Amino acid sequence: MTAITTPPDVRSRLALALDVDDLVEATRMARELHPYFGVAKVGLELFSAAGTDAVVTMTELGYKVFLDLKLHDIPTTVRKTARVLGAVGASYLTLHAFGGVSMLRGGVEGLRDGAAAAGLDSPCALAVTILTSDAGAPPHVLGNRVRSAVEAGCGGVVCAAGDVKEAKQLAPRLVAVVPGIRPAGADADDQARTSTPQAALDAGADLLVIGRAVTAAEDRAAAAAKLVESISI
Ligand code: C5P
Repeated sequence: MTAITTPPDVRSRLALALDVDDLVEATRMARELHPYFGVAKVGLELFSAAGTDAVVTMTELGYKVFLDLKLHDIPTTVRKTARVLGAVGASYLTLHAFGGVSMLRGGVEGLRDGAAAAGLDSPCALAVTILTSDAGAPPHVLGNRVRSAVEAGCGGVVCAAGDVKEAKQLAPRLVAVVPGIRPAGADADDQARTSTPQAALDAGADLLVIGRAVTAAEDRAAAAAKLVESISI
């Protein structure tokens, strides 16, 4: 059994990507890895399988929930959907910055209104800038999407580690969430722009999304412990 104590300021900056299609398996993983992660990320796969029960279950386990649904639709639909998700207790919700300022603003306001109606703290709307699997986006795209996020009132952006510096220069107050995290020497899988945990934090990342580096390991707790030990902040 791996026994390490994760410093609270490290744990609060690590989000576990629960990319499975079954809430029983997600719960098992979330319980096992709770000592290392403060945030549970529910993405399209788990949400499609279990819906809002996934949010409720992870909240009950003591996690902050990051709903990674990358909403992208007309502003009214995004507003109404975000309102539902805010009321369910998501602490973070992703919206596609590609959807433009009106759509992002709809998501920001809907999320805030939904949480307020349920008596919950105000959640953080995150604009997804460029997917970390996309290595081909032209250079001006990041800046345009970060500016859209600021104009719409988003609390943060999701970007690759290599984009954090530019994003923070444009918008120092935005939370920078970074997926595509891999320990040194690990397989990139389908990600094109990866980073080690420490390099992402050194670049200014506020929250790291950790998926297969831990969830696909033979011994998940050992992989999580090793990852935590590789971080100094
Ligand atoms: O397994 P891996 O660490 O690659 O998982 C990354 C997670 O982060 C996945 O859940 C993926 O959907 C998500 N994500 C991403 N790139 C983004 C936004 C979210 O990889 N730009």
